[in-house]
Amino acid sequence: MRILVADAFPDEYRAELAAYGHDCTYEPETTAEELTRALAGHDALIVRSTAVTADAVEAADSLRLVIRAGSGTNTIDRDAAARRGVYVCNVPGRNAIAVAELTMGLLLALDRSIPDNVADLRAGRWDKKRYSRARGIHGRKVGVVGLGGIGLAFAERAAAFGADVHAVAKPDRDERTLERARAIDTVFVDSLDELARTCDVLSFHVPATADTRMLVDRQLLSQLPPGAIVLNTSRGDIVDEDALIEAMESNGVRAGLDVYADEPTSSTGTVTSRLAKHPNVYGTHHIGASTEQAQHAVAAEVVRIVTAFTAAAPSDAP
Ligand code: MLT
Repeated sequence: MRILVADAFPDEYRAELAAYGHDCTYEPETTAEELTRALAGHDALIVRSTAVTADAVEAADSLRLVIRAGSGTNTIDRDAAARRGVYVCNVPGRNAIAVAELTMGLLLALDRSIPDNVADLRAGRWDKKRYSRARGIHGRKVGVVGLGGIGLAFAERAAAFGADVHAVAKPDRDERTLERARAIDTVFVDSLDELARTCDVLSFHVPATADTRMLVDRQLLSQLPPGAIVLNTSRGDIVDEDALIEAMESNGVRAGLDVYADEPTSSTGTVTSRLAKHPNVYGTHHIGASTEQAQHAVAAEVVRIVTAFTAAAPSDAP
């Protein structure tokens, strides 16, 4: 296949695709706007941060396969792909540990105000008293919303730091999830509201769907204890950003965020999110999955998908 790789992708996995006879065009800086041009003549697209719009899909005459090198497919216009008969695949699970590690990092950074500490020292200010009010992670009630691969990996890491992990009981949880949750003595509560009332850290690990849109709304945030921490390394759309800013200003809530409702549609761009710039937020650049280990695991799965796709549709292959 003629494959456009429109985001950074490890060399060895591109070499592997070439060894299987695929012709890879590597344009890792492609923006969403440039994609329509760049896709011409390609059968497949491998993409991570660059948004795939309906215009790009509709203009790409030979496109048959789009692979998102990550879990979510919310950056791809799936309706347009379905109309054109283009397969859209994702790579769930392979970056779970990386995202969990970043979430843990944000929690530690917030508890100890690490970025502010560093900024003060760099500016020549020594102010030990200002930074002597951390509450610690040990014994802290940490609510985990979403016990998929990432949520569980985060819960296990928080438990290893001595936190008391809480989650919402759900009748349809599978036995494997329950086993891992029980192994860290997860306390199950009846509702998300109860989780918000009980915990002083709430960490969100849910996909972007119609059901999770604005899940973190004014009503939920109003249940949080003063000074609570909200962590979101999943998708920006699940948070009502105005409501979170209000909770920060009225109730001292702080947040560790890797995702925003309004993110650039390519891997570089300008920050427009008011939330990302708020002093109660430690924000990162949607880099949860950005470890070498995770990117290699994702790339290996991308190669497997390309191989399976070409094996399943050999007559279409050039
Ligand atoms: C994911 O969907 O797994 C991540 O958001 C991937 C990424 O953009 O780094």
